[in-house]
Amino acid sequence: MFFIKSAFCRVFQTAFRIALPILPYREPEIISSCAELGDVLKKENVKSVLIVTDKGIVNNGLVSPLEEALKKSKVHYKVYDQTMPNPTVKNVEQALAVYKSNNCDCLIAIGGGSSMDCAKAVGARVAYPRKTVGQMKGILRVLRKLPTLIAVPTTAGTGSEVTLASIITDSEKQHKYALMSFPLIPHYAVLDASLTYTLPPHLTSTTGMDALTHAVEAYIGRSTTKETRRLALMAVKLIFDNIEAAYKDGTNHKARENMLRAAYNAGVAFSKSYVGYVHAIAHSLGGKYGTPHGLANAVIMPYVLETYGESVYKKLHKLGSVAGICDEKDSYEAGAKKFIAAVKKLNKDMGIPDKLNGIKKEDIPLMAKHAEKEANPLYPVPKLMTRKELENFYYMIADWSK
Ligand SMILES: NC(=O)c1ccc[n+]([C@@H]2O[C@H](COP(=O)([O-])OP(=O)(O)OC[C@H]3O[C@@H](n4cnc5c(N)ncnc54)[C@H](O)[C@@H]3O)[C@@H](O)[C@H]2O)c1
Ligand SMILES: [Fe+2]
Repeated sequence: MFFIKSAFCRVFQTAFRIALPILPYREPEIISSCAELGDVLKKENVKSVLIVTDKGIVNNGLVSPLEEALKKSKVHYKVYDQTMPNPTVKNVEQALAVYKSNNCDCLIAIGGGSSMDCAKAVGARVAYPRKTVGQMKGILRVLRKLPTLIAVPTTAGTGSEVTLASIITDSEKQHKYALMSFPLIPHYAVLDASLTYTLPPHLTSTTGMDALTHAVEAYIGRSTTKETRRLALMAVKLIFDNIEAAYKDGTNHKARENMLRAAYNAGVAFSKSYVGYVHAIAHSLGGKYGTPHGLANAVIMPYVLETYGESVYKKLHKLGSVAGICDEKDSYEAGAKKFIAAVKKLNKDMGIPDKLNGIKKEDIPLMAKHAEKEANPLYPVPKLMTRKELENFYYMIADWSK
């Protein structure tokens, strides 16, 4: 049975790999500060903007420069600032109501992945007024053009400013799922590292580890291209070189800039080459317990990489080499093990635990079911695993000592 399922997964992934060159990937137009948005809105003939953000972003004063730019250009706007970390269907519907009642024709998301994903899903709802968010989950369900969508990331992080994904949580079903469609790629992205200065150390570390997970999972998967391998390698090097500097000194501009670039590159890489079981498990925990996405990835990644074993030695050795963790003298196995040890050390040095509290044994089968459904057949993981094998990871990462 597993043999038939595996064969189906690999055929499915091969079909997507072959189709890759003809799929309509694009990248947003990059802008370097919110002050430049006036010209963009003029060019797009925008009359009314919905800003999608969260309370933390507003309280840190990050929305003010954007509001100033809109006021200066005399563009009407409204702010929706109720987005939750792991944004919910309810957030999307509330923001959509504000969008409609203000006759908006443009969405500007300012914040981390949560605000950006919420805005993307609002855009999808505008394009498909009769479909629920849940009906648009999965791949290629959104085909119509979205209203002008501008992403302003304030974490370095998710890469949502360039990806085709929007990850939304159905709080009632405690299920987190992805909408993955090309029109969800933002039209513009403002990459301004100074917007990440206020990100506190514990979020700098975990959101940065999310970006590392994107790069690693994209690189070790079986659907890479020359371009996605290059971008993933660049992201891994930038993250190993800069994450601790950004963690220790939030205003280190060079480190912040390099982390933003790394998150963007990793976003391009995984948009085309996908993620893997680390993300599938992290999403199931986010849906069930609201576990912050970056934290979940950071904790899970070493366990999954160790379980992949031999199938990833050569690729992890390469990642370790570009990051200066191992060299040609090391065997593939030794290099891969050094790379995993370096990920663990990075976590430890930035105060990220190696296990998670609050996982309940009785929840594990359903979470593993969700993780399996998300990953198989879509993610071209180096080694396919059964639902039972995925269940083991929850036992490995659960901290039941308290
Ligand atoms: N669309 C994608 O491609 C993609 C990829 C990976 C993850 N995600 C999703 O993105 C979400 C996580 O996003 P995230 O990790 O960026 O965090 P987030 O958007 O959930 O934000 C976390 C917290 O950080 C605060 N914050 C953000 N920027 C700040 C800043 N500059 N200064 C001070 N506080 C700041 C926010 O107010 C919030 O309280 C998850 O739902 C995850 O599933 C999406
Ligand atoms: Fe992620």
